Amino acid sequence: MDKLVIHGGHKLQGTLRVSASKNAALPLMAAAILPRGVTFIDQIPHLRDIVTFSHVLRITGASVNRQRQGLEIDATRVVFPEAPYELVKKMRASFYMLGALLGRCGKAKVSLPGGCAWGPRPVNLHIEGLKALGADIDLEQGYVVARVPRGGLSGGSYRFEPSSVGATVNLLLAACLGRGGSRIENAAIEPDVIVFCDMLTAMGAKLDGIGTRTIEVEGVDQLHPIKFSNCPDRIELGTFMIAAAIAGIPGDPVLITNAQPDHLGQEFLDAFQRTGCFYKIDKDTITITPPDVLKPISITTAIYPGFPTDLQAQWTILLSCANGTASVTDQVYGDRFNHIPELYRMGLRAEVNGNTVTVHGGHHLTGAQVMSTDLRASVSLVMAGVVADGTTHVGRIYHLDRGYEQLESKFSQCGINIHREQYNEFENPPQG
Ligand code: EPZ
Repeated sequence: MDKLVIHGGHKLQGTLRVSASKNAALPLMAAAILPRGVTFIDQIPHLRDIVTFSHVLRITGASVNRQRQGLEIDATRVVFPEAPYELVKKMRASFYMLGALLGRCGKAKVSLPGGCAWGPRPVNLHIEGLKALGADIDLEQGYVVARVPRGGLSGGSYRFEPSSVGATVNLLLAACLGRGGSRIENAAIEPDVIVFCDMLTAMGAKLDGIGTRTIEVEGVDQLHPIKFSNCPDRIELGTFMIAAAIAGIPGDPVLITNAQPDHLGQEFLDAFQRTGCFYKIDKDTITITPPDVLKPISITTAIYPGFPTDLQAQWTILLSCANGTASVTDQVYGDRFNHIPELYRMGLRAEVNGNTVTVHGGHHLTGAQVMSTDLRASVSLVMAGVVADGTTHVGRIYHLDRGYEQLESKFSQCGINIHREQYNEFENPPQG
């Protein structure tokens, strides 16, 4: 098993490059099995989630091959409309296969995603929404078994409450190939969903209202394969901005390239500026200039364009470095705080009360042995190690490898003392 070893106190200087988006890549890959033929998606990051989803696609009969910075997906033959538990449990976005296989094959047998490091993470909106569009759905021994009437989904309308990225993607995957018209209300408008809708449109799907809360879909007989390019990862961008704020040298600019700051939403950008951290956007480069002292700015997460829940753990580390007390409230997931007990081991002064963590900043963290529990928790532990006194060992970084491409090499090229090591969890604890 791998861990990251970080010797804290080194300053972050120079340029960080954002990789392509994980959360946009996954729906794009699902869409690639809708047309019969070879689709090329450029800018696909080298991540564990991409490898897992590639296996999920191959099981249906499609082929998936890495070509330069992208993936070539040949969906000429999609003959096995199933997604097995062993893979879906590893990555819940595999649940997109429900909509994709319904759209392509008119039937699907997809494992329910099962648990998550935090939760609950229900899929009721996916199932109720597909039923509303005309799909027949049963639950059989942990699997969703779905089929559409002969000729494709008849169409219908459904209103999400709350708005859901995954459920919006699943309904669009099923509805764009069908014979009826569908109307999705309170649809997700995250940038990942808009990029996905742009790909469907390029394939010949008939969508109206992309980027708004109401999307109208007119089913078509077939879609055609295309070449399409993915967008940069907005959550990695936000992560790097926070890392620059806490580990940069006051007054010394850090450059972040291949950035698309508007994908972060104004809430995050405003909160970031209120910490006293200056940022300047110049096309796809954002320059971050850290202040002498960070101000403690409280945030509350919300669906886009609100403050992203995927950045709340990282913001907690910023608050630990700020001069004063502030809070992080997660309104999207009520209990996404598994990183807090690990941060207590590093001296974090904070209290969790329901879906809010109150952080008392201005006290140095100290290095310790800590363990990742999920993707964004793991990156917050790495960021804590960067600013802590002493050495931090972050274990189980297979969680990190799901969503951050070559993080340790990106950070070490900017002056951070971080390296990867293999270890055995049952051996003696590391020295120093
Ligand atoms: C996507 O998950 C992201 N994953 C998550 O990022 C992200 O945290 C989440 O959106 C919220 O922004 C991918 O894009 C692969 P939702 P998703 O359905 O689609 C409730 C990461 O770290 N809900 O938009 O599963 C749900 O409980 C990952 O990269 C239902 O009630 O999220 C939540 O409160 C973690 N019933 C809210 O909707 C449902 O059927 C938003 O969830 C579905 C969702």
